[in-house]
Amino acid sequence: MADRSVTFTGIRFENPFLLSSAPPTESENNILRAFDAGWGGVVTKTIGLHPVTNVVGAKAKFMRTAAEDASVSMKKRPGAALHSSWNWELISDKAIDWWVPRLRRIKEAHPTKVLIASIMAGSGNDKELRNWQLLAQAVQENGADGIECNFSCPHMDRKDMGSNIGKDEGLCSVVTEAVKEVSTIPVWTKLTPATRDMVVEAAACFRGGADAMVSSNTFPSLPMIDPDTLEFEINVDGLVSSGGLGGPAILPMALANMAKMTQAFPDKSFSGIGGVSDFSQALSYFLLGAGTVQVCTSAMLDSAIGPNVIKRLNAGLDAFLDRHASDGWTTVEDFRGIRRERVVLQSQIRRPEGDHYQGGYEAVEGYAAPDLVS
Ligand SMILES: Cc1cc2nc3c(=O)[nH]c(=O)nc-3n(C[C@H](O)[C@H](O)[C@H](O)COP(=O)(O)O)c2cc1C
Repeated sequence: MADRSVTFTGIRFENPFLLSSAPPTESENNILRAFDAGWGGVVTKTIGLHPVTNVVGAKAKFMRTAAEDASVSMKKRPGAALHSSWNWELISDKAIDWWVPRLRRIKEAHPTKVLIASIMAGSGNDKELRNWQLLAQAVQENGADGIECNFSCPHMDRKDMGSNIGKDEGLCSVVTEAVKEVSTIPVWTKLTPATRDMVVEAAACFRGGADAMVSSNTFPSLPMIDPDTLEFEINVDGLVSSGGLGGPAILPMALANMAKMTQAFPDKSFSGIGGVSDFSQALSYFLLGAGTVQVCTSAMLDSAIGPNVIKRLNAGLDAFLDRHASDGWTTVEDFRGIRRERVVLQSQIRRPEGDHYQGGYEAVEGYAAPDLVS
């Protein structure tokens, strides 16, 4: 019989779909609604020891693209399709003391759902490493089933925080080790794509004892400049800083990173994030070897916690397993990773032979028709 459930890093999920650490999981009410809607798990909005203050005005906006001119803009236009989310939101503006009783209540209300706590501290000295441990202990003692270390927030100025940890293999492994030292529950590390080769940082986290890699957070990006006002489409007093791009625009890049990592560590666990709104996108992550998939942007645009998104994901998985019943596939594990080895070096891709070779000038989209005279 087809079965949606998966076991990932030793944790049983009723389905492999989670809300990622972001606005959909920033409050008790949202998380309770998400579980009621059918999500197998959630990763809380990242929790720190101290409250943070966000910029004035909007913390996140959505970019859309229009078929007629391929323009990308935050301006709403009829008929435009979602291109991406752009955000410069910091971690939770509620600190650990606010979260502790809420984690406990959420877990009590939904004992079979998976509650992962995302945490973040600095890494510049022993006191900061101790802060990671304090956070890890606080969340595990109050109902978290797992910990996700945020090594990937793209908007931290501090050199020892957020994606600055995820860009430094030394810090990746030291912080992971510190968290593992006190943890009795699985520890995942969420990586940044803003690095030369994520495999290097993934290796460092695994060396530190991480149970899974989460890939990934948003990509560094700027909003567009309005051609009329010459102002950034999102700014405060005319100023902007580098923010994070999520949603459909990052899907192919996130898949490329996932393939590199699952090939490098075929026996390790990976949670895929980036541009998922439907089962077809989640399927690409599974086929490349991920065991769970997380969602942010598409859920934000669907009643804040994605009730329709999770319905589509579950229905898509059911229909897929149904279609492949004759292959003997009954769970995600039966097809996980079966396209991982199809990503190869360019030199291993077959070239045309003999008369069939057209010098690359076949009239395909984006190329001129072949010049048959010359
Ligand atoms: C507004 C906003 C806030 C976010 N906050 C966090 C956060 O606190 N911690 C974290 O690990 N990721 C955070 N993220 C990143 C998302 O969890 C996710 O990795 C990213 O958006 C890519 O997934 P998507 O394409 O489904 O949006 C945030 C994303 C957005 C859009």
